[in-house]
Amino acid sequence: MISPKMTATMNKQATAEFYSAYLYLQMAAYFESLNLKGFANWMRVQKLEEQVHGMKFFDHMVERGAEVKLGAIEAPPEKWESPRAVFEAAYQHEVKVTGMINNLVNLARQEKDHASDAFLQWFVTEQVEEEANTKKVAQQLKWIGKEGSGLFMLDRELATRTFVMPAAAPGP
Ligand SMILES: [Fe+2]
Ligand SMILES: [Fe+2]
Repeated sequence: MISPKMTATMNKQATAEFYSAYLYLQMAAYFESLNLKGFANWMRVQKLEEQVHGMKFFDHMVERGAEVKLGAIEAPPEKWESPRAVFEAAYQHEVKVTGMINNLVNLARQEKDHASDAFLQWFVTEQVEEEANTKKVAQQLKWIGKEGSGLFMLDRELATRTFVMPAAAPGP
């Protein structure tokens, strides 16, 4: 059995993951407006990943017989100062999401909900990657500064990112 509290928190998390998708899609639009197609590609791939994250929570709740109740998705910010500011914001966002995942793990352990605990471990590992990826690009943009050729080279690199469907998370 999955508790009402765990159900409510997972519903919130599913909504937060879809918000993340929305945020990254808005960031993609920012890069598209600058004609930085590689950066936009990176954000589009990230948006697809976030949708998968949201669906993992959705599917876990369905499999556990929990009541799915998706919340409202708020509008993301739409303006940033620079490409670097976007990736700094993405990194800060992922740090926040890591905190939410950790709280879910704590709740699963308090409730001795081993199925949720096992399910959440995939996200614990994923968040390490999410923080590292966004931080790496933010740092590279810091080194590049205002230099156009560096930005152009990084744009070409980020154009190569492709979406890989993650392996299924452990079931209940
Ligand atoms: Fe996520
Ligand atoms: Fe990821």
